[in-house]
Amino acid sequence: MKFTSDRLLLFGATGDLARRMLLPSLCALDAEQLLDPCIEIIGTARSDMDDQGFRDFARQSLEQFLPADRRGGMATFLNRLSYQPLDANKIEGFKALAEKVGEPRQGLSIFLSTAPSLFEPTIHGLEQSGLAGSKVRIGLEKPLGIDLASSCVINDAVATAFPEERIYRIDHYLGKETVQNLLALRFANLMFEPLWNAAHIDHVQITVAETVGLEGRVAFYDDAGALRDMVQNHMLQLLALVAMEPPVSYDATNVRDEKVKVLRSLRKVDAGETVTGQYRAGAIGGQAVPGYDEELGKDSSTETFVAIKAHIDNWRWRGVPFYLRTGKRLPRRTTEIVVQFRDVPHSIFQGRGARTVPNRLVIGIQPEENITLSLMAKVPGLDRDGIGLRSVPLAITMPDAFAGPQRRIAYERLLLDLIEGDQTLFVRRDEVEAQWEWIDAIRAGWEEQDIEPRTYTSGSWGPSAAIALAERDGVTWHE
Ligand code: BG6
Repeated sequence: MKFTSDRLLLFGATGDLARRMLLPSLCALDAEQLLDPCIEIIGTARSDMDDQGFRDFARQSLEQFLPADRRGGMATFLNRLSYQPLDANKIEGFKALAEKVGEPRQGLSIFLSTAPSLFEPTIHGLEQSGLAGSKVRIGLEKPLGIDLASSCVINDAVATAFPEERIYRIDHYLGKETVQNLLALRFANLMFEPLWNAAHIDHVQITVAETVGLEGRVAFYDDAGALRDMVQNHMLQLLALVAMEPPVSYDATNVRDEKVKVLRSLRKVDAGETVTGQYRAGAIGGQAVPGYDEELGKDSSTETFVAIKAHIDNWRWRGVPFYLRTGKRLPRRTTEIVVQFRDVPHSIFQGRGARTVPNRLVIGIQPEENITLSLMAKVPGLDRDGIGLRSVPLAITMPDAFAGPQRRIAYERLLLDLIEGDQTLFVRRDEVEAQWEWIDAIRAGWEEQDIEPRTYTSGSWGPSAAIALAERDGVTWHE
């Protein structure tokens, strides 16, 4: 049902995500008058503070994480905030929370950014206190479980109080402009779609490289590891957007119907087609950094790097490998998608300098937002022994192409869509389940074969076996 929320209830309101992303995004949306002019934002968490305490907390967060030129509406925004302490495990607290939230004029959006263990009692509390009615929708932050079984438990619990049309599962990569631009690139241009298949594409690479290490998320990360933290969600969503069939229209049902078909077509991966690693001490950008076990303070067999050769068993992608890799403490922060086309079937050019190099499309998601298509061109000159050819880039840099619009936090898009009720950029239950199914099988393979992560030096591109994984197919990772 379409309604705009004029109340927003934030669980985990004093947490890291709220500080870094949620409060700054909401303030930016408010300053641009994109929220209901009467919106009220109620924060809740265990910490004992009053409205003013929460406003002070929010002010500090905004000063730290929202650029100064976007803080214009800060005073008005802070006035919209109030706070109610709550222990989600104690049902009694929900009554007071419901009183604090009051009766929305139009609708209420709830956002859960808490430990997943609190999801179940929170949903129960919301239901019992009348905060789960037909004018309420709920946003869920990851992690939604650690495997298929635990994600089903969470999804079942949420489903007792909210129908799927009112559940908004966040994958913040879908909120990134450049990720949405993938759809524009594929489906608003005629030229790619006829070539976007196994007949013309040799392979696809998806890299999500980070320079950061644990960032203090010791317990969470050591339980999760790179496969569950990054591949299960963000990387599989990128893969689905690259590989999906054209949806009938850009709306929640049609886009998600096509993504889930791709996720269900993923072939079970053999452990031999994966490489895991864990970083050791090294240097990034000239700065010495400690190893994972030193940061953690104990030995661990959690992977901080993973590379996978994936296959999509459908007509379009039969025989086209998708090489995925992600890791922490890699040399630079970059997320990019490389679509490697096949070579021309026959070259008409002879001579020493006339070798053709297959076209390659590189889509830079972050930090640089750019699209580069490599094309073959004639090297200028009066060659006597035939035409000379060279691969040259046709490049678009998004900030140059669109000088006006702001760089936004992904959560601005997602919170706005939650508040207004557009599920297109949120993950549907069947997608999450297909994702987990594929990931669980990889983990089972590792366990069966006792696979332990190899080590790699911080500041390198992961274990050398990851390079070999691609090289044995004659493929070089794009750097
Ligand atoms: C989160 C992971 O989902 O995504 C983090 O839990 C990771 O480990 C982060 O650092 C990366 O997000 P971004 O937007 O910085 O690429």
